[in-house]
Amino acid sequence: MIFRQLFDSTSGTYTYLLASRHGGEALIIDPVLEKVDRYLQLVRELDLKLVKAVDTHLHADHITGLGALRDRTHCITVMGEQTKADIVSMRVAEGDRIEIEGVRLDVLYTPGHTDDSYSYLMGDRVFTGDTLLIRGTGRTDFQNGDPRSQYESIFGRLLRLPDETLVFPAHDYKGDTVSTIGEEKRYNPRLQVRSADDYVALMNNLKLPNPKMMDVAVPANMHVGLHQDALEKQGLSLGAREAIASLHRPDILLVDLREAGERSKHGTLEGALHAPYPSIEDSLKPGGMLREVAAATGRRVVFFCAYGERSAMAVTAAKDAGLANAAHIAGGIDAWKKAGGPVLLG
Ligand SMILES: [Fe+2]
Repeated sequence: MIFRQLFDSTSGTYTYLLASRHGGEALIIDPVLEKVDRYLQLVRELDLKLVKAVDTHLHADHITGLGALRDRTHCITVMGEQTKADIVSMRVAEGDRIEIEGVRLDVLYTPGHTDDSYSYLMGDRVFTGDTLLIRGTGRTDFQNGDPRSQYESIFGRLLRLPDETLVFPAHDYKGDTVSTIGEEKRYNPRLQVRSADDYVALMNNLKLPNPKMMDVAVPANMHVGLHQDALEKQGLSLGAREAIASLHRPDILLVDLREAGERSKHGTLEGALHAPYPSIEDSLKPGGMLREVAAATGRRVVFFCAYGERSAMAVTAAKDAGLANAAHIAGGIDAWKKAGGPVLLG
């Protein structure tokens, strides 16, 4: 198991790099834009392939590294379904799993610091974002924060994990790196309250100044989406309506790039072939599944995913692999559904 805790001293942010083995897939939690070079250097040094970059919530104190990591590694960007970020490739909700080779994060919706705050449980440890900090809790006075829902998230969810569960927060300003659920129950001063009302009163009287970076970071973090217009200009993009109209055309091969969990939860398109995005390069190589099917049938490959990010990157990968006319459905199955397109469930 590879587990690295990285620190950005400017914002006091902890970033976590996870992988099950050298040479395997990696996932990063809460990357900071200014540190992207450092993360990528470490990824190379440990011989890893970064496949997912995840934020616990929309940050107000630093600019996220999600967009830059996506642009440089073509990884999948992940946030909770409530996020106001314009596009992330995958949105998760309570009960979902975020998986890479040999690593599984169970997704816990823990709102309160913001309404898009999530914690991620990985076996004996939990990444608590800004919901639960070491001897503290994330402030609840902006970005749709709510002390009562934070009380529920902490007392109703996180503190119910086994006492020995390790707590890895998104921030620390005092130099602590890790705690446990049991330790926080006993010694976190914010948690020594008798009721939700007491907690609400405590949080509403903190009178904190706004974070220095807030006016810059919040708007920047809402715009992390991949620009998909270039593909449209090249004629490699189908609008949702156009895609719906071509659903049964025999010259088109629809390719679903999402994971099995997304397909079963959100449905898929009739006749679509399944080729998960993380192994797209292998499928596009000579002898690869997609390459062979496209050659054997003579059909035009049309990729789709959840919001159009993975599919836009797949079009570029296809071009690089010599499949010049592959296209994608702009806005993904989300846009397709909004335009009234039919979806197969189960
Ligand atoms: Fe935060």
